[in-house]
Amino acid sequence: MRRPLVAGNWKMHTTPQSAVELARAIVRAELPADVEIVLCPPAIAVTDVARAVVGTPVRVGAQNMHWADAGAYTGEISAPMLVGVAEVVIVGHSERRADFGETDAIVNRKLRAALAAGLTPIVCVGETEAIRDAGGARETITSQVRSALAGIDSAAAEPLVLAYEPVWAIGTGRTATPKQAAEAIGWAREALSQALDAATAQRTRILYGGSVSPGNARELLAQDGVDGALVGGASLEAADFIAIAWSAIA
Ligand code: PGA
Repeated sequence: MRRPLVAGNWKMHTTPQSAVELARAIVRAELPADVEIVLCPPAIAVTDVARAVVGTPVRVGAQNMHWADAGAYTGEISAPMLVGVAEVVIVGHSERRADFGETDAIVNRKLRAALAAGLTPIVCVGETEAIRDAGGARETITSQVRSALAGIDSAAAEPLVLAYEPVWAIGTGRTATPKQAAEAIGWAREALSQALDAATAQRTRILYGGSVSPGNARELLAQDGVDGALVGGASLEAADFIAIAWSAIA
């Protein structure tokens, strides 16, 4: 009942021109109709990529946004600016948390702003290696989910997508085992069902992210409760990303 979703996070890669070329290569290919596909280019390329995918089922997302609608925030973009261009936005990616000081409270403000604007947020949670080694992965995931959703009711949260991305697996070539991914996503869903009502938690898609590749995607995405993937490095190669998208259907 949860439609698989595969999203490409292009991070700070591509130019507006090469982003359009990559998007075109993806939409030209045969894509699995039962999988929702989202491309998240750098902010400067979002508009061009959105134009390049018009008339296709592929959706476009931003990688980040500010929580305010407008204001003196040099360099930032807001949710209302994305509306009409992008439909999706990544919120609380671990690189934002680690490198740009995004706290759980900021993630919560951004999530509220994204939902209020009618965007589909992909909220990222996940533990560091030190936390996992110390046995704290479940607690971290639970508390990140709870904080992100603080004060948001189930009806408002409906379009939410979560992504479990263990920090130690992002960009490292080290993937969580399918069992680790499924277990952590189970913890995330349990936290969701405490923060929201159980039915909404059951309907919410939870992705795995962290060194997903054409070689490991099938097994990861076949796990119970793993509803798709948030793909970084491998999303920059059209053929790899398309192969991962096909892996999302059994
Ligand atoms: P990766 O990135 O696939 O390159 O590990 C995933 C992510 O950061 O979303």
